[in-house]
Amino acid sequence: MANTPQRVEHQMTDKGYVPVYTTAVVEQPWASYTPTDHATWATLFARQQALLPNRASQTFLDNLSHMDMRADGIPKFDDLNPVLRRTTGWELVGVEGLLPELTFFDHLANRRFPVTWWIRKPEQLDYLSEPDLFHDLFGHVPLLMEPVFADYMQAYGQGGVRAHARGADALAQLTRLYWYTVEFGLIREPAGLRIYGSGIVSSKGESIHCLESSAPNRIGFDLRRIMQTRYRIDTYQKTYFVIDGYQQLMDATSVDFAPIYDELAANQSFPAGEVQASDNVFNRGTGEGWLDDGDV
Ligand SMILES: [Fe+2]
Repeated sequence: MANTPQRVEHQMTDKGYVPVYTTAVVEQPWASYTPTDHATWATLFARQQALLPNRASQTFLDNLSHMDMRADGIPKFDDLNPVLRRTTGWELVGVEGLLPELTFFDHLANRRFPVTWWIRKPEQLDYLSEPDLFHDLFGHVPLLMEPVFADYMQAYGQGGVRAHARGADALAQLTRLYWYTVEFGLIREPAGLRIYGSGIVSSKGESIHCLESSAPNRIGFDLRRIMQTRYRIDTYQKTYFVIDGYQQLMDATSVDFAPIYDELAANQSFPAGEVQASDNVFNRGTGEGWLDDGDV
């Protein structure tokens, strides 16, 4: 069994110089994980578990405990899949890393969530430029147990297949929706603002920053606004968008985006940190520590 990810090449994209992996679904090479790999998982898991109560969405926390995801070592996809299939009909498939967009959308449209099988090195606990197993599994999978969010992810995949056929502008707009919801979304719950974005719940630093720092904007969810907003891939986000509930995501995504793409085609995109007059602003960021360039 291979124990190193099969990178095919690197490619320059709008997100920078990124590795390209084989697109095939692979068996999780569980026996090849080293004691260090398991210890990395356990360290990251314990760190986030201590940090996330009163910060992460209660739905995320409840599902994390219902899934019985192992804390002491890397879980087996085969142990998690029966629970996931029974709850929302999703299943995890192992992959080597980031997938081409259409392959990724096709998985989601069929309720398969691709999970990178390899885990970061101990010296990368705090930052990694591409998704690894901890991000994909700990960050994404608990919310796939939430029925409405699970439907949203499938609808997003179906929308992705349509956007891909339309071209680069539609894809860029749709990708911003994923970024600002699935990866970096906040939700308003009865107890206050909470995190549901996987990019945040899998990051110690951003779990604190997104809620407690005065630097970023926190703005109410607005589909068109998000689709026009550039984002950061190398720093904390300058703006977080806040939903009122998971149904809001599903409602916004259950329509065909074609007329919206037409409507937005002539519009400029917004810088990641700029507040617009029409925004429902929960917090106007101070902008402290922001870099001026680098929005994608
Ligand atoms: Fe992710």
